[in-house]
Amino acid sequence: MPSRLIAVSNRIPAGEPPSGGLVVALKDALALSGGLWIGAHPETGTGREPLEEIQDNGNTHLAFRLSEDDLSDYYLGYANSVLWPLCHRRVDLIDMSAAFEARYRAVNARVGRMIASIARPEDVIWVHDYHFFPLASELRALGLSNRIGFFLHIPFPELGSLSVLSQPEDFSDWLASYNLVGLQTRADVARCLEVYRADPRAEFLVDGSVKFEDRVTEIRSFPIGIDVEDFRTQAARDAPDPFGRAAPESFVIGVDRLDYSKGIPNRFRAFGRYLETRPEGSYPCLVQIAPPTREQVQAYQDITSELEEIAGHLNGAFAELDWVPIRYIHRSIDRTVLARLHRRARVCAVTSIADGMNLVAKEFVAAQDPADPGVLILSRFAGAAEDMTDALLVNPYDIDDMTEAYRRAFAMPLEERQARHTACMEVVQRTDAASWAKQFLAVLRACVPTLPRQV
Ligand code: UDP
Ligand code: G6P
Repeated sequence: MPSRLIAVSNRIPAGEPPSGGLVVALKDALALSGGLWIGAHPETGTGREPLEEIQDNGNTHLAFRLSEDDLSDYYLGYANSVLWPLCHRRVDLIDMSAAFEARYRAVNARVGRMIASIARPEDVIWVHDYHFFPLASELRALGLSNRIGFFLHIPFPELGSLSVLSQPEDFSDWLASYNLVGLQTRADVARCLEVYRADPRAEFLVDGSVKFEDRVTEIRSFPIGIDVEDFRTQAARDAPDPFGRAAPESFVIGVDRLDYSKGIPNRFRAFGRYLETRPEGSYPCLVQIAPPTREQVQAYQDITSELEEIAGHLNGAFAELDWVPIRYIHRSIDRTVLARLHRRARVCAVTSIADGMNLVAKEFVAAQDPADPGVLILSRFAGAAEDMTDALLVNPYDIDDMTEAYRRAFAMPLEERQARHTACMEVVQRTDAASWAKQFLAVLRACVPTLPRQV
C-alpha cells in the first residue's frame, strides 16, 4: 500500500473565506502534496458522530463534530483561553479551569481514536497546532508506530510560563511522542530545547535530537510561507479598483484577525501621532481589515471595544468633511480583494506583540509592484522578522518608534524601497508554502520510525 499523508488540524477550510494562517498555508501546501485533511466540522453535533466527508470548493476533507461543550471548553476554553495566551506572552489573560483541561484531553483522545481507525501502518501523520499537543501520545497509546510529525504555527511558549499549566511535566512528554516537532523560527527551537534541557527525563543525542525516555524526537524550524505566484498574480490582476469612487490618496494597510496578539491598538495610536506631524497637505489613511475571531472569549470582546474606541477617537479628532483617516472594517475580506488592496497600499503595518510567522507580511511583499514597491513595517516579535530583516523593523510597545516608522515609510525614496523589497521578496520566495511542506515531510519521512509500544 502506498504511504498516504494524513493532516490533522482543528480548523479546516469549509467554503468560507479563510482568515487564519494555518488554513491559508496548509491549503496551498496540501494542494501540491495531496493527502487526507481531517479537522473540526463547522457545525456542532453530539460529539459522538463518526468522521464525515465535507466539501470545500471541489476538495473533500474529513470532519469530526464537536459538541457545544467541546466548543466551549476545548476550543474556546483550553485552546484559546489557556494555550493561546500562554504562547503569545499574555499569561495575564489566561483563564484556567479544570473543566477546560479535562475536555481538551478528552477531545484529543477521541480524535486519536478516530485517526487510529483509518490510519494504515505506512501512513505519515502530520498534526497541526496547539489544539492537538497530546494527539501523538494518544495515538502511541493506541499502538500506532507510524511516523507522526507536529507543526506549531504559533510561538513556542517560554519555559517559565509553562508553570501555569496544572501538569507542566506533561508538555514535554506530549511533544516527545512525535518523531518530528516543527517550529516557525530558530528562536522557537531555542525555547523548545530549553524546556528539554530543564527536564531530567530528557537527554540530547549527538545529532541534536532529543531522547525522552524511550522516544527520540527531532526539533527543527520550518518557516511557513504562501503560494507566492498565486498571490502575486491575484494582486496584479486587471480588475476594478476595490475602493470604487472612494479611493484614498495614500494609505497604510493592516490585515489581522481582531486578536490581542496583533498589537493593533498601538498601531492606531502611532498612526494618530503621525497624523499630528504629517507633511502639510497630505491626507493619509489607515485601512484596517480586522475580521472578528473567537468572539465568545472575554479578552476578544475587550480588544474589540478598545480598538473601536481608539478608531472613533482618532477619526473624531482628525477627520475632515472629505477625509476620514481610519477606515476600519470588522469583517473578513476575500483574499483576491486583499491581494489588490495590498498592491495599492503604500505601507503595510504588522505590529504583533507575538506571532508565529505572520503571513500578511509575506503577502504584502508578494503583492507589490517591484518597479514602485510599498514599505513593510514589521514587528520584531513576528516570526517573519527573523529572516525579513530588510523590512522596517519596529518595537510594537514603543509608539514613538512606530510613529517614526510611518514617517520613514511614507518619505522613503524609490531606490531604498526597491532595495528593501528585493531583499524581502527573496525571503518570501525561498520560504514559500510548497517548500515548507516539502521540507517538513522529507525530514519526517527520514525519521527513524517509533517502535510499537510493549504492553
Ligand atoms: N485573511 C483573509 N481575510 C481577512 C483577514 C485575513 O483572507 O479578512 C488571511 C490573510 O490574508 C492571511 C491569513 O488570513 O493569509 C492570516 O494569517 P497570519 O499568519 O497573518 O495570522 P493568523 O490569523 O494566522 O494569526
Ligand atoms: C491561527 C492559528 C490557527 C487558527 C487560526 C484562526 O492561525 O495558528 O490554528 O486556525 O489562527 O483561528 P480560529 O480559532 O478561527 O481557527
